[in-house]
Amino acid sequence: MTAQIIRGADVAKQIRAELKEEIAELKEKHNVVPGLVTILVGADPASQVYVGQKEKTAGDLGVYSERYDLPEDTSQEDLMALVDRLNKDPKINGILVQLPLPKHIDENEVLIAIDPKKDVDGFHPVNIGKLMIGEPDYLPCTPHGIQQLLIRSGVQTEGAEVVVVGRSNIVGKPIANMLLQKKEGANATVTICHTRTKDMAFHTRRADILIVAAGKANAITADMVKEGVVVIDVGVNQLGTTAEGKRILCGDVDFDAVKEKASAITPVPGGVGPMTITMLMLNTVRAAKLAAGLA
Ligand code: GUN
Repeated sequence: MTAQIIRGADVAKQIRAELKEEIAELKEKHNVVPGLVTILVGADPASQVYVGQKEKTAGDLGVYSERYDLPEDTSQEDLMALVDRLNKDPKINGILVQLPLPKHIDENEVLIAIDPKKDVDGFHPVNIGKLMIGEPDYLPCTPHGIQQLLIRSGVQTEGAEVVVVGRSNIVGKPIANMLLQKKEGANATVTICHTRTKDMAFHTRRADILIVAAGKANAITADMVKEGVVVIDVGVNQLGTTAEGKRILCGDVDFDAVKEKASAITPVPGGVGPMTITMLMLNTVRAAKLAAGLA
């Protein structure tokens, strides 16, 4: 079997076109312009790329955006003061603090300080709690992107055996929770594997849908999957740079070998990545509509 390639870049393009129309209509009919702020502390090269992509996409779609690039040695106090100010700024509907933060900053304290109504990342405990009880305001962007990829590619999740590799707060835990909800595009039986799982392959071989967010190249090899599996690869591992300075990326899955057994698989790059940024824009539009009483 050679797999259908699930091109997130194409699905993301389609959703962005829908959002662009919605944003234009919001402006025209209600004079509402969604506003997003991104905050980057330090100079991590991958984070700089992600924040740059978020800013560019916001501009392309007609979202008002502000960007704060703060030095590595920014104090907790100064970062909290900025968040507090942005919480009160009516132009800003969404606040995104790029993770990871430098080690001297308490990440949880910062995430909890963001007004849950402006938490377009969906990381605030209030929004995580709402997700868990099936009443979300904002779904976290990468898991939401994964779920949309499954739905829009016609993958049946109801009753499926889903195995998630990775238990991060950003991907593993929320996607597992979302897919077990009694809802369309969910209703799956979900297993979460992690670094202390005894026999990873025992679990991954049972998967109808395998979602990999392990943060390690080649974490999943062809012998670890069954024929016909649908594979969603969330990994972004940098193997090096080209002569022109472009990043050479690969996922967590041995793509070339696994695609011969899978029925469908996402590539890296061009799979989950473009969906994450698109879902951030979707959440920002939702935040603006909620603030204006339009949702
Ligand atoms: N770092 C890696 N992924 C994300 C994300 O989705 N949001 C934020 N804020 N930081 C990240």
